[in-house]
Amino acid sequence: MNKTRVAVFASCSGTNLQAIIDADINTIEIALVFSNKPDAYALERANNHNIPTEVLDHKAYEKREDFDKDIIKVIEPYNIDLIVLAGYMRILSPDFVRAYKGKIINIHPALLPSFPGINSARQALEYGVKYTGVTVHYVDEGVDTGSIILQSVVEVEDSDTEESLLEKIHKVEHQIYPEAIRLVSSGQVEIVGRRVIKKN
Ligand code: GRF
Repeated sequence: MNKTRVAVFASCSGTNLQAIIDADINTIEIALVFSNKPDAYALERANNHNIPTEVLDHKAYEKREDFDKDIIKVIEPYNIDLIVLAGYMRILSPDFVRAYKGKIINIHPALLPSFPGINSARQALEYGVKYTGVTVHYVDEGVDTGSIILQSVVEVEDSDTEESLLEKIHKVEHQIYPEAIRLVSSGQVEIVGRRVIKKN
């Protein structure tokens, strides 16, 4: 079976990228790491593993749409089957999402639909929930609204600070993102309505 050609989009340190590399998923090939930040440490991680990289600095663009159009041009030659957002801190324009419809997934540090957007751990602490967690979901044209592939729970303890909670969340992310990528790339799931369910 052909391997799923994956592009990982990352703007930050790329610990999720590292977890995906280390998981050595045999149904995928990480064909590209893309970043909107020339100094993202994720790019160095890619270099260390001889994974091709591409960078487009969003600051050079006035309009999100133009930036995203150029991303499409840059990644086209890589024949990407699945885009994995791993700490990619840009909202994708509807045109981009349509161009890769059903082929983009994201990881979010909360149990969606609770606490979408940024600073989710802080939002969870301020709200006072006893459990938060991690969600891997397909990306649609909304912010953190796509169909949910996997979720995992993290307990909020009384002693937790935003930092300690984020640390626990990250640990769980590094476990479930590779698992979700394995599920999606091996064709084991299908979308029925809003639900992502295992095929029989
Ligand atoms: C993760 O917490 C992810 O959920 C969020 O951004 C963070 C990226 O961390 N979308 P890293 O760059 O993978 O270390």
